[in-house]
Amino acid sequence: MVAPKILVVDDDKNLLELAKTRLAAANYGVTVALGQEEALEAVNNESFDLAIVDLRLADEDGITLMEKLHAIFPGMPVIILTGHASVEGAVDAMKRGAYTYLTKPFDPRELILQIGRALESCKLASENQMLKGMLKEKYDFANIIAKSEKMQQVLEAVSRIAKTDSTVYIHGESGTGKELIAKAIHLASPRKDKAFVAINCAAIPETLLESELFGHEKGAFTGAVRSTKGLFTQANEGTLFLDEIGDMPLSIQVKLLRALEERQFYPVGGEKPVQVDVRVVVATKKDLVEEVKKGQFREDLFYRIHVIPIVLPPLKDRIEDIPYLVDHLLKKISHQMKRDVKGLTPKAMEKLMQHDWPGNVRELENTLEYAVTMTQRDIVTDDLVLQTKVSTGAVATTADSIQAQLLPTSGSFKTLKEARSEFERAYLVRLLHSCNGKATRAAEIAGKYRADFYDLLKKHDIKLAEFKRFN
Ligand SMILES: Nc1ncnc2c1ncn2[C@@H]1O[C@H](COP(=O)(O)OP(=O)(O)OP(=O)(O)O)[C@@H](O)[C@H]1O
Ligand SMILES: [Mg+2]
Repeated sequence: MVAPKILVVDDDKNLLELAKTRLAAANYGVTVALGQEEALEAVNNESFDLAIVDLRLADEDGITLMEKLHAIFPGMPVIILTGHASVEGAVDAMKRGAYTYLTKPFDPRELILQIGRALESCKLASENQMLKGMLKEKYDFANIIAKSEKMQQVLEAVSRIAKTDSTVYIHGESGTGKELIAKAIHLASPRKDKAFVAINCAAIPETLLESELFGHEKGAFTGAVRSTKGLFTQANEGTLFLDEIGDMPLSIQVKLLRALEERQFYPVGGEKPVQVDVRVVVATKKDLVEEVKKGQFREDLFYRIHVIPIVLPPLKDRIEDIPYLVDHLLKKISHQMKRDVKGLTPKAMEKLMQHDWPGNVRELENTLEYAVTMTQRDIVTDDLVLQTKVSTGAVATTADSIQAQLLPTSGSFKTLKEARSEFERAYLVRLLHSCNGKATRAAEIAGKYRADFYDLLKKHDIKLAEFKRFN
């Protein structure tokens, strides 16, 4: 456990000495400041979990200082110290965001007690916020469709290993449910009430990934104006999900290996090691054995994370799951879109059962989302699912590839204009597809006048003839 760090600000040197001794004895990290100037310097150098501030500082009033501190660390509890004569001021401080106040001379045991309470309530508040996020997503076994023998085995493995602290290695093609399973492991574990922190190692540039994971001290690099906690620290006592670990640069792999072996690490630019208690779950769609052979992935790290492997089978190897997934996903999508689409025609279902599903469950979800959007009825007919692809080059024809086009690649976004234009093109292609190239109908659905619609097609160099189907 990382010792909480406390900042004490008072213009009385003796009081600072006393507080320092007492707090250090109670295993807190303590920094003292003689006034506002020193206090602000301290918060620029490191982060704090709590501050104790004298209401009447020689050079400044404590409330103003508290507000400055809150501007930097919004949720940080502040305890105000006050003389007997100024209790009113202390009450005012509480109205403006102080956690509580103590009158001087204070009883050190009372101070320790209040600090404990403040830190606990702050922790609860942030955990509550995080839990609300998790609840909204409701990740538990009830939301995981696993009719097939293969998926049943996966879920059995999940419940067996959830109770341990071993590193879990999830391997599966894209869209097979890696993240869903990672969250299920967390929720079935004794860590379920603590943080589940996820990071996609492929989405963050190499230069930022290290400080993102391990945090950094102020001045560690240009732009590091203040020290920051990394995700490892945020996941303390909880679970850290390292997604797409196969894309982690070699330089950071070394550091991760050390962190996993020693259960401690050094923030970027930091000299003091930070200790954490984190359960690590990793996921990859790459074959890491191959990556090791190619020299793209460290062998020692591979063995360190390959403790409990879980392999998620591709959807085409468990087609018996499809009808149940369809039922589950249709309910989910209908609910999201406030529609009441009840099911698929047998012909549509047959089409789904025969498809290859290179994008797995995510592709199935996108296919159904498209069908629900397009259908005018409460049932999905076969013409609305998996139409044969048009040969229009590198055009996105599934929501998944549209998403892939819009998401940041190597950390940089496309401009809104480019993204909008790409989306517009992909939309038109899918729309024309579903209308068999009938421009009048397509223009009507798109809510455009015919002439304007033709202009759009021209802008994107889309040929109507390519969408005409005769069947
Ligand atoms: N067995 C399942 N039951 C219900 N929903 C599922 C199942 N598997 C996947 N899904 C859903 O499919 C979508 C994709 O799943 P998830 O994001 O977990 O896949 P992934 O393997 O992490 O994909 P990617 O490789 O693209 O990151 C999610 O919306 C998820 O809820
Ligand atoms: Mg994923």
